[in-house]
Amino acid sequence: MRSLLTSSYLTLALAALVLLTGCRETRSEREPIQPQQNMYYDESFGPQEANSFFENRMADRAPVAGAVARGHLKEDSRFYTGRDEEGNLIERIPIPVTRELLERGQDRYNIYCAVCHGQAGDGQGIIMTGDYGYTPAPTYHSSRLRDEVGDGYLYDVVANGVRSMPGYAQQISVSDRWAIVGYMRALQRSQFTEEDDLPASAIREIEQGRSANIQGGRIGEE
Ligand code: HEC
Repeated sequence: MRSLLTSSYLTLALAALVLLTGCRETRSEREPIQPQQNMYYDESFGPQEANSFFENRMADRAPVAGAVARGHLKEDSRFYTGRDEEGNLIERIPIPVTRELLERGQDRYNIYCAVCHGQAGDGQGIIMTGDYGYTPAPTYHSSRLRDEVGDGYLYDVVANGVRSMPGYAQQISVSDRWAIVGYMRALQRSQFTEEDDLPASAIREIEQGRSANIQGGRIGEE
């Protein structure tokens, strides 16, 4: 009796084993049964689709207010906008003015600005002298642009344009805009210089009547 019981248990266990292993490697076209669904089925939405889950019924979620994309944190308002924290245009270039910066400014100026404003900043660029019917570009050598406007204003003109002049924010990077501002200031001094600003050698040349040698807008040469 006992052995009979044992053998019937054994038969049952064997049958279970065969049944279980029989499931492996057997493919079925039907969807598997998932009693615990968790996040197996996730509804997805295309751009601008409606989604009744949200109050405004838009599937698109706007970024949290004040979110900043990677690499776009522009904390230094003076550098990026030419304005201080109160939004006023700043007086002075917010980065060190080096010879390198001015030479970069000269390079960019001659590419982007000289066609209209002229290489000497006198408003006599090729587009202006060529009678193409453009709005005249002003000279930089007016007392207003020389003394009354700050560097932040000039930066703003390069970035955003002014009246009929377009802005150059797309073409010229922030640091290059400042380089151009520095070079505009250099051009202004090249045409309007106090005697004290000149190196002794230049004064000597003028006194000897060889002033031709110091023309042409060279920067800071002894
Ligand atoms: C396509 C010609 C053109 C180019 C290129 C150009 N400008 Fe101008 N710019 C003008 C004109 C025209 C005005 C006058 C706008 C007006 O008063 O309506 C002007 C005005 C200005 C002024 C005087 C603003 C004022 O308050 O009077 C400055 C400074 C200036 N430009 C700087 C630049 C710089 C720097 C560049 C190069 C990045 C540049 N411009 C490129 C045509 C040009």
